[in-house]
Amino acid sequence: MKDHEKIAPFSCNIALIGFMGTGKSTVAECLGRMSGMRVVEMDEEIAARQGMTIPEIFAKHGERYFRSLETGLLRELGSGGNCIISCGGGAALREENVALMKRNGKVVLLTAAPETIARRVKGDSTRPLLKDNQSAAYIADMMEARRPRYEAAADIVIQTDDRTAEEICGELLTKVRGMGEKDV
Ligand code: S3P
Repeated sequence: MKDHEKIAPFSCNIALIGFMGTGKSTVAECLGRMSGMRVVEMDEEIAARQGMTIPEIFAKHGERYFRSLETGLLRELGSGGNCIISCGGGAALREENVALMKRNGKVVLLTAAPETIARRVKGDSTRPLLKDNQSAAYIADMMEARRPRYEAAADIVIQTDDRTAEEICGELLTKVRGMGEKDV
């Protein structure tokens, strides 16, 4: 799949889930460019509405508050027009959120090895949950704890190590179309 290639918009939402650094934002941006669909970057949307960065929201109000904002936003997106939703890495951990994603959408899980994630997030200070430790071992433990919930939520799983956004979008397109995107 080429960067400039155009694809027909999906007839449902596409919710990209997965651990931090699995490429959700990059893939969402690429899919949006190809399909012309609106892209919602959940973290960006929440930060803009709160007038604060994600670390500021965590520091001032705590993680629970942030999680309730995620649920509120997903509730809104499930009832609007179709879009590509780049979910925060923790959004799929709540069952209620997953049900909202599936109401009018396909849930696509992006995966990567802990070493890949560690390389991608190195030096990044925008993720409160990785601010004190960004080692592959720490990431592997957190990822393992989350894995059952990610996998239970996913309609489709795509591995992202050593692949370009265009390659990932190509696989996503084939798999979503293959499973009948209207059967949401
Ligand atoms: C989080 C992931 C982040 C952001 C917040 C919490 C998580 O999003 O929502 O820092 O719990 O995994 P990204 O996955 O886009 O980094």
